[in-house]
Amino acid sequence: MSRLDSFIARLSAQRELLNWAIDWVKYREGPVLEIGLGNGRTYDHLRAGLGAERIYAFDRAVNANPLSIPPADRLMLGEFGDSLPGFAARHPGGAAMVHSDVGLGDPEANARQVVQMSGWLPPLMATGALLLSDQKLTHPDLMLQPVPVPIPPERYFIYLKA
Ligand SMILES: C[S@@+](CC[C@H](N)C(=O)[O-])C[C@H]1O[C@@H](n2cnc3c(N)ncnc32)[C@H](O)[C@@H]1O
Repeated sequence: MSRLDSFIARLSAQRELLNWAIDWVKYREGPVLEIGLGNGRTYDHLRAGLGAERIYAFDRAVNANPLSIPPADRLMLGEFGDSLPGFAARHPGGAAMVHSDVGLGDPEANARQVVQMSGWLPPLMATGALLLSDQKLTHPDLMLQPVPVPIPPERYFIYLKA
């Protein structure tokens, strides 16, 4: 497989999984959180399926394509260590779904952040909520699920909140 093939396969798999998650959450109540706005590609896909009103996006800064910037009242800027616990305190009902795409290039910093995310994400989620995470997380309230669409191993981890 060429690098182009593998790049296309990775993005196709991400789109398949997001489409599955959109169908899962479409008729459930509660906000949807996009953690790691980045370029805004996955935010834009979720927005196309669910509408901007439902989605809150988190990042330390706006580096998204201008066509993929959330409305100001749906954009939570700042370090996750501040913005995620702050949001959980303001929205105690919890999100219906979280898409967390926050991998860091530096393996040591990434490993530290994985531990932190494992603590920050569950308080954001309603009971039974769905989490798609690009990192493998560990928390007693996060129940690992089988991945529902064919994607490369360890590309995404799927959890339901106990
Ligand atoms: C892989 S990118 C997200 C890509 C995005 N989902 C897309 O489709 O374009 C990860 C993002 O997470 C943000 N991020 C990572 N760690 C963070 C932290 N501790 N606080 C705030 N933002 C963080 C980075 O700034 C980056 O924009």
